Amino acid sequence: MLTVSMTVNGTEVTKSVDPRTLLVTFLREHLNLTGTHVGCDTSQCGACVVHVNGQSAKSCTMLAAQAEGADVTTIEGLAEDGNLHPMQAAFKEHHGLQCGYCTPGMVMSALDLLKHNPEPSDEEVRHWLEGNICRCTGYQNIVKAIQSAAQEMRS
Ligand code: FES
Ligand code: FES
Repeated sequence: MLTVSMTVNGTEVTKSVDPRTLLVTFLREHLNLTGTHVGCDTSQCGACVVHVNGQSAKSCTMLAAQAEGADVTTIEGLAEDGNLHPMQAAFKEHHGLQCGYCTPGMVMSALDLLKHNPEPSDEEVRHWLEGNICRCTGYQNIVKAIQSAAQEMRS
């Protein structure tokens, strides 16, 4: 067993884990943060995207031990005082989700995009989301939601 410590959604956590434990498993099974999903387990779908030290990362592709000392944010860390983050609210408003399985990863990836590029074109949004697969919505409403959140977050 290995002891790992990191900050998750602003709270310091220390747990004893099998060294092979993936970050997504650590979040879901050790911390009960089940908003981060596993779609493929092979780094293709993006359902598991979280932020590690402010950058989006596929948590199925990282060991928990690799996040030692890191600052990790999951979808559960976005809402404040019971209010959805503007990106979450925009997905709801613009019907950017159907089954919702891909949504946490989409939201986390989109926020990373806006950090780099607060005013992306539709094409830039689509390009950024290449690593996030949604089987339900055809992406049109996801792009609309991200553009609306971008506008809201700039104002
Ligand atoms: S579960 Fe990580 S990319 Fe699909
Ligand atoms: S909303 Fe179902 S996979 Fe995207």
